[in-house]
Amino acid sequence: MCGIVGYIGSKNSVPILIDGLKKLEYRGYDSAGLAILSDGKIDIVREVGNLSHLENALNKNELCGNLGIGHTRWATHGRPTKENAHPHADCKNNISVVHNGIIENFLNLKEQLMERGHVFHSETDTEVIVHLIEEYYEGDLLAAVQNAAKKLEGSFAVAAICRDHPDLIVVARKDSPLIIGIGNGEYFVASDIPAVLKHTKNIFILEDYEMAKITPEGICIVTFDGEEVKKDIFKVEWDGEAAEKGGFEDFMLKEIYEQPKAIKETMRDKFSKEDEIIFEKLQLSEEDIRNINKVVIIACGTSYHAGLVGKEAIEHWAKIPVEVDISSEFRYSDPILNENTLVVAITQSGETADTLAGVKEAKNKGAKVIGITNVLGSTITREADGIIYTHAGPEIGVAATKTLVCQMVALYIFALYLAKIRKYLNTEETSAIAKDILMLPDKVEEILSGNGKIKESAENYANCTDFLFLGRGIGLPVALEGALKLKEISYIHAEGYAAGEMKHGPIALIDDGVPVVVVATKSKVYEKILGNIQEVKARGADVVAVASCGDDEIEKVADYVFYLPETPEIISAVLAVVPLQLFAYHMAKERGCNVDQPRNLAKSVTVE
Ligand code: F6R
Repeated sequence: MCGIVGYIGSKNSVPILIDGLKKLEYRGYDSAGLAILSDGKIDIVREVGNLSHLENALNKNELCGNLGIGHTRWATHGRPTKENAHPHADCKNNISVVHNGIIENFLNLKEQLMERGHVFHSETDTEVIVHLIEEYYEGDLLAAVQNAAKKLEGSFAVAAICRDHPDLIVVARKDSPLIIGIGNGEYFVASDIPAVLKHTKNIFILEDYEMAKITPEGICIVTFDGEEVKKDIFKVEWDGEAAEKGGFEDFMLKEIYEQPKAIKETMRDKFSKEDEIIFEKLQLSEEDIRNINKVVIIACGTSYHAGLVGKEAIEHWAKIPVEVDISSEFRYSDPILNENTLVVAITQSGETADTLAGVKEAKNKGAKVIGITNVLGSTITREADGIIYTHAGPEIGVAATKTLVCQMVALYIFALYLAKIRKYLNTEETSAIAKDILMLPDKVEEILSGNGKIKESAENYANCTDFLFLGRGIGLPVALEGALKLKEISYIHAEGYAAGEMKHGPIALIDDGVPVVVVATKSKVYEKILGNIQEVKARGADVVAVASCGDDEIEKVADYVFYLPETPEIISAVLAVVPLQLFAYHMAKERGCNVDQPRNLAKSVTVE
């Protein structure tokens, strides 16, 4: 997601800000910019593309000054263009702002501000912040930011500067990270610690609803209500690289732990406060939806597993038949599609060659195509007719983790939307299911707290060379994903199978050297899966089970049990996959593998 930086002190802020932005590159971005206050004016330079483009533009401008703010933008509202890049300015170029987060009520605010004569130059949600500050500004920047912050809904970390105050930065935070680095007569603002570590290890970490007035003489931290906040200095003990990973050993682990937040972000623009479901860029009319006679989901790898989960949800709630195909197969098959077929192409990167080719094939045959992706501006956003974004934030680890759970959540909400329009679910039923989906982030958090036990089981099995993963119903895509995660990052041979298929072949593999991981959550096929567990136990295999909390039966047959909080069957896939991600992670670490960059794999598979 976006990164913000700021500097106030006696040095030239430009190289310090650029260096800070470079340390935030890992967050992902598509454009960048700086605003420098000097000689009574604010100069803003913004460029699309990577930071070298911004550096070239800055060199041409010979920009220099002791106070500045900077930003790397990962587009959410509006395309990645120069106009949409931050910093943004008010109507008089008096105030400048950088922002990280999403302003949910920006359309409303924008309308009101435009009625009051404010002129907007970008498509971003951020621009409302600077105009709102302008609206409240009467010579006191802190008060203006404070009043503006109270009007904003959504998430924000904001840094603002004003031409009238050549020695002041005001920052505010709600639901987006913001820290202040304390130097000697100088201060550094950033979205994350790595951006300031070169200069200081002494940090103030702002909490939600806190803001600060920063001058070269000192910092005053207050709440949005103006109450002064006394804060302890946080002393950073990690080095630069560890800090980028937020103190986690690897990006993959960090991303697994980011899942509750990623799911919240994915749900944020889809569930409105008025109990409605919104898909802003779907480009499907209600009539189109009523006319759908078949959904075909295409995807590769982990995204394919999300597709299998999506099938369960769409068929169960919206009663539309769904086929799920691997993109590389679909593109060379002769699929039966027409204008009433909806093709859903799932790709976190938005760049997977086989999936993009499948999209072309589908469009050639007259089908409507919806893309589900995590990357704004990626190729699928141009190729598909409509788009659903998962807002998981950039995923650096090659193995997909947080993007998967967000794909599943996006598909659940989409399935609900289809069901509502096709009148298979009424408002009360939709709201009840939505409530369960909204509880997922807290439940994932609960599972993450059981990491210690999962690590212990991985230590026990780290020397095994073969694994079988079994599941039925909604547990099957989870089992397939568990096997894929294990093989791709630990290089252990793992097969995912429908548990009912065991006696048609794979049971021949079972002996005491092949542990079997079973997704055995409470479901309509629970008794059947217990039977499958007995079959493998009888052949000497160890069993690791993913089960629903309160299930005492499973303790009697499994060697390790990872319990999940209670949740309805269909949406349990989001929960069940989390312990298996952690299991694969710990297995790989035990074996000394590089989990972030497994051999032979790439994050974005742009070739066939
Ligand atoms: C596995 C993994 C891959 C991707 C696959 C599709 O952890 O990351 O299997 O899921 O390459 O990628 P996208 O979703 O970008 O199309």
